[in-house]
Amino acid sequence: MKKRILLGVISGLIAGGLGGCGEQKMAAEPQATDATAAQVNDAWPELASPIAQDAAMEARITELLDKMSIEEKVGQLVQVEIRSATPEEVKQYHIGSILNGGGAFPGDDKHASVADWVALADSYYEATMDTSDGGVAIPVIWGTDAVHGHNNVIGATLFPHNIALGATHNPELMRQVGAATAAEVSATGIDWIFAPTLAVVRDDRWGRTYESYSEDPAVVRDYAGKLVAGLQGAPDSDELFNGKHLVATAKHFLADGGTENGIDRGDAIMSEEELIEIHAQGYFTAIEAGVQTVMASFSSWNGKKMHGHKYLMTDVLKERLGFDGFIVGDWAGHQFVSGCSNVSCPQAINAGLDMFMAPDPSWKELYKNTLAQAKSGEISAERLNDAVRRILRVKLRAGLFEAGAPSERAYAGDESLIGAPEHRAIARQAVRESLVLLKNNDNLLPLARNQRILVAGDGADNIGKQSGGWSITWQGTGNQNSDFPGATSIYGGIAKAVESAGGTAELSVDGRFEQKPDVAIVVFGEDPYAEMQGDVSNLDYPGESDLALLKRLRAQGIPVVSLFITGRPLWVNPELNASDAFVAIWQPGTEGEGVADVILRDAEGQVNHDFTGKLTFSWPNDAQPTVRNPGENEALAQFNYGYGLSYADSEQLAMLSEESGLSEADTKEALAVFNGRALDPWSFQVTDVGNNHSVISSSVAKLQGISVQSVDRNVQEDSRRLQWSGEGNAIAGFFANSRTDLSAYLANQGALVFDVKVDAAPSDAVNLGINCGMECGAEQSITELLKGATPGEWKTVAVDLQCLAKGGAKLDMVLSPFYVRTAGALDVTIHDIHIAANAETDISCG
Ligand code: BGC
Ligand code: BGC
Repeated sequence: MKKRILLGVISGLIAGGLGGCGEQKMAAEPQATDATAAQVNDAWPELASPIAQDAAMEARITELLDKMSIEEKVGQLVQVEIRSATPEEVKQYHIGSILNGGGAFPGDDKHASVADWVALADSYYEATMDTSDGGVAIPVIWGTDAVHGHNNVIGATLFPHNIALGATHNPELMRQVGAATAAEVSATGIDWIFAPTLAVVRDDRWGRTYESYSEDPAVVRDYAGKLVAGLQGAPDSDELFNGKHLVATAKHFLADGGTENGIDRGDAIMSEEELIEIHAQGYFTAIEAGVQTVMASFSSWNGKKMHGHKYLMTDVLKERLGFDGFIVGDWAGHQFVSGCSNVSCPQAINAGLDMFMAPDPSWKELYKNTLAQAKSGEISAERLNDAVRRILRVKLRAGLFEAGAPSERAYAGDESLIGAPEHRAIARQAVRESLVLLKNNDNLLPLARNQRILVAGDGADNIGKQSGGWSITWQGTGNQNSDFPGATSIYGGIAKAVESAGGTAELSVDGRFEQKPDVAIVVFGEDPYAEMQGDVSNLDYPGESDLALLKRLRAQGIPVVSLFITGRPLWVNPELNASDAFVAIWQPGTEGEGVADVILRDAEGQVNHDFTGKLTFSWPNDAQPTVRNPGENEALAQFNYGYGLSYADSEQLAMLSEESGLSEADTKEALAVFNGRALDPWSFQVTDVGNNHSVISSSVAKLQGISVQSVDRNVQEDSRRLQWSGEGNAIAGFFANSRTDLSAYLANQGALVFDVKVDAAPSDAVNLGINCGMECGAEQSITELLKGATPGEWKTVAVDLQCLAKGGAKLDMVLSPFYVRTAGALDVTIHDIHIAANAETDISCG
């Protein structure tokens, strides 16, 4: 836990987006707690939710507010996680909401039954309805990430991920997907769904690209309202919140998909016009469909964290866009707001956040601090009442006050809803419509059923792999086919169809066979990942063994069909060249039969289902990390936005260039990080004891517990003196908004080299770190080395890059090549920081 928080703080510094044009962004910072409404840009539309306020309901809320103590009110503002809060604690702290994070189950049992889920929901519900302490009964609201079906629950229907749904170009289908998802969630007694994700992803290196319907805002706009209507029920109908339709969340507000270089939780650096025209489009239709909650994004807009962004949360979303539901935070995301920590952030509430998502056990401290801030007036009574009113409004609208205990609700406990055949049919249709045919030379597809088909590749019979991230577990890893009862693998779907027509389908992951097949289908691609763990530094598909398999089959005269499992477009020209037909199947989820429906002919030998899927993301023509979108580098797309063949096409795809465009790094030259000034792309940044992030561009800066100063060694201001007071953790180092590939240095006995002069030896542990993003990085202790240095004398230090690589830093995607962190007192001066190959090292990890 400790390691995670520290990495979080460091990543906050990077993702704080203070790289690049930092000063301009810092200028925006003082407005954070500004209580006055800013002038809203006219380009934002004025909207109204179709779920109008009801005078009687508002009066009832006023009555409740009048009865509630300040302790009870603050409790509504805190959402805790089932792994770190018992029903007893929820009662004691008057907690308003709970969640289960990705991969969190009742009793930590992955195989928890529907009855277990409902029983747990009951126990939290009862805890909040218990008025024996004289308090007011306010039913808890439980939220879950049902982002492609009820994905934390064994046996649920898993729909294709959003990138695949986008390719269907079928907004009406989204309503059905939403309704089926909500129905399965209702069976477990849960009230609220953290979907849809409305990110418009522009840089496909982002690890959440697959959670996006499209790089095209129009698609996201067309889908958002439909999804919300499917989840919540149509606003003008009696299905709205009828027990089988639940509260939805538009997330992550705003511009999560627009971060610089596709860095998870990074900074969206853009004009307000771009924000409105590209990233806000989905929110407009979601609000017009009556979405009741919005989740704040971890990311920043022009250097300012969304969790603390009053202008966007309050002035724009709540006032101009007329959103009268509540804004929930994202997974302790408030901690990254300047001046905040995970246990204290009045800034976020004052900026318009209504509910903290406080998943770790420190929530009690957050509660206490928030209570103190509400009592002292640091959070005004007006703001507190407004936040609670919004939360109660959503609970009332959702019918939670009247619904009774989860187990008494009409659909809760109904196991037949989980993985129901009618839901699977919708998912199977979505799979069929999402497949994008990129190559079909000599019209190899559709394949006749009555032949001998070899089905190869590590994705052929692997339901975890075909489902991607957010599948039973958070990352989607660590699952077996048996964890998906009722599901069908790609191979399973093919085998069923082929065998019913007298053909044979032989499963052979490595592609070896005894009897030569008529045709081979190879299923391969990306392994599952979620969030920051899916960030990449370029667009190369690295599967060398897959390519070898395709070539081997081809060399034996076997026609090859590639089915590519992926969460994003990747450069696959070599794989395309080694295939006769190539289909992007994305991450289709549990209904693998949808693939067989399209690639195989029907029993009579006719086309069964044609391909109708079209790309909603541009496909790259090389592996370089170039952004490609409609109107942006279109010439660098191998397949443009909207591409997708059907069986009527007879297009032959010629051999494609196999030049990846990635160059081998030259390590003869050392790579300078600091030589008197921070070299591009890095800037010199400090996070002080109060978690305030600053880009240092002046020669002297005194911050809380740390001060920095430019000093002369050989020429003026060629060095930086760093002084820590010992008041607490503070960090100084070089950070960027873009990634640097240091892997060639790592491969060539590389080291991080710097000169240092110690004026006061450390009083506590000092770490040297390399960071590569949220939860990505490593630190190496330099305490002894600094303690052993002769005071006042310069010394050159070289730290083996292996130490950092072994500690978990991904050296091909470095954001910070050098930072120093200590909580103790320390006075050092640094000079000439660089990365060099073939270095003699002082600290080695060989
Ligand atoms: C994700 C959200 C998710 C939340 C709760 C966060 O890390 O960004 O999308 O809803 O966790 O699991
Ligand atoms: C949770 C996820 C969450 C993630 C954020 C995980 O432990 O289970 O739901 O999104 O942490 O870092």
